[in-house]
Amino acid sequence: MIWKLKVQVASSSVFPLTCMLSFSESKSTNDGSRDQPAAPVVSGSTTTSNAESNSSTSKVGEELKVASQLRKFTFYELKSATRNFRPESLLGEGGFGCVFKGWIEENGTAPVKPGTGLTVAVKTLNHDGLQGHKEWLAEVNYLGELQHPNLVKLIGYCIEDDQRLLVYEFMPRGSLENHLFRRSLPLPWPIRMKIALGAARGLAFLHEEAEKPVIYRDFKTSNILLDADYNAKLSDFGLAKDGPEGDKTHVSTRVMGTYGYAAPEYVMTGHLTSKSDVYSFGVVLLEMMTGRRSMDKNRPNGEHNLVEWARPHLGERRRFFRLIDPRLDGNFSIKGALKAAQLAHACLSRDPKSRPLMSEVVEVLKPLINLKDMASSSYFFQSMQAERAAANSNNQTGRNGLKSQASFPRNGHQPVRSLSNGSHPSPYRQSPKPNDKQP
Ligand SMILES: Nc1ncnc2c1ncn2[C@@H]1O[C@H](COP(=O)(O)OP(=O)(O)OP(=O)(O)O)[C@@H](O)[C@H]1O
Ligand SMILES: [Mg+2]
Repeated sequence: MIWKLKVQVASSSVFPLTCMLSFSESKSTNDGSRDQPAAPVVSGSTTTSNAESNSSTSKVGEELKVASQLRKFTFYELKSATRNFRPESLLGEGGFGCVFKGWIEENGTAPVKPGTGLTVAVKTLNHDGLQGHKEWLAEVNYLGELQHPNLVKLIGYCIEDDQRLLVYEFMPRGSLENHLFRRSLPLPWPIRMKIALGAARGLAFLHEEAEKPVIYRDFKTSNILLDADYNAKLSDFGLAKDGPEGDKTHVSTRVMGTYGYAAPEYVMTGHLTSKSDVYSFGVVLLEMMTGRRSMDKNRPNGEHNLVEWARPHLGERRRFFRLIDPRLDGNFSIKGALKAAQLAHACLSRDPKSRPLMSEVVEVLKPLINLKDMASSSYFFQSMQAERAAANSNNQTGRNGLKSQASFPRNGHQPVRSLSNGSHPSPYRQSPKPNDKQP
């Protein structure tokens, strides 16, 4: 097994360099004839000549037959819709590339004046090889077919020479990651539970309701997007896989996903089941409860890995309180937090068979969003706070166990993609990170 590590670097206020590069590449491509192929940017197995890019385009055209209801955009349309991929339109950047805000006509593909028509998010693929193209294709094929209120809507795509773009409905509140770890105001507990429920419904649909079961494989806070009412929608189907068919118990795959979220048995064996997603859900639920990232090298020794740190407290009725995000300052439901801790414990079970189905997770979460038994008014919580304060005064950190999120790298986690076989070197790719602003 070979791992391709993508190390993500903090950059909240500076416009990411790679986005500037892709902007200037796009610009030069389009200042000439729109039909000219973009200059080849990377080595390796990506398209390096006009002839090759044309043949790959037509091959891909065949592979895209299923997605006929999607709108097909030209590069020029998307360039105009995002006002030349300008920095002010940047919504964020991930491993795939940069995401820009844009405006298109309600029912077509033509760009329109900002603030009119349909607001969209345009994801541009970095020119970085076959893996990127495969993920682009998986996204188009899965999201083109799957429709559910808890999956982000893919509106269309662009494939032109070696340009690959995706056009989504715009999600005004951005990603859960931004809200949980980057905003100064803590996300209220009932909203956290609402988001957990929405995201669980999305996974339950993929596993148990879709025509063919789908394993999502990249469940994490940055892939949970939020609409104006904090309804959660899953995005990024680049790593999604068809579930096992017939009497098969698992799918065998290259190990791909993100450190800190991938289920241990999947990392060890490459055997993928829907229970791998359930484990990742447990990690995200824990992140929502604690306000801590799944991996955080800035925390004291023994606390880098959230699951390892939290596991001993999860099953303990009296100790689970210590896990709850101190920034909530007691503004969480005691019953709700206890149920959420038990649920996370079950999802994070080392034995995949002991993990619940996502439909069961949905049932447990449903009642939790309306609970009003706030811990701040309980005697038990107040005495625990006093205990915590005493412990903190003995401990020189004086930080209530929580460092300021603002000082963290933007992504404490390290997304990891493996390569298909041993024939490629294992490249370490640094990708500057997104603005957290949502223009
Ligand atoms: N449809 C959308 N509406 C609004 N903002 C979006 C949308 N899609 C993505 N974004 C923003 O762009 C950011 C980058 O998204 P992207 O999926 O490319 O990367 P990521 O999820 O952060 O990382 P990774 O590549 O590891 O999945 C998101 O975190 C989010 O803030
Ligand atoms: Mg993503």
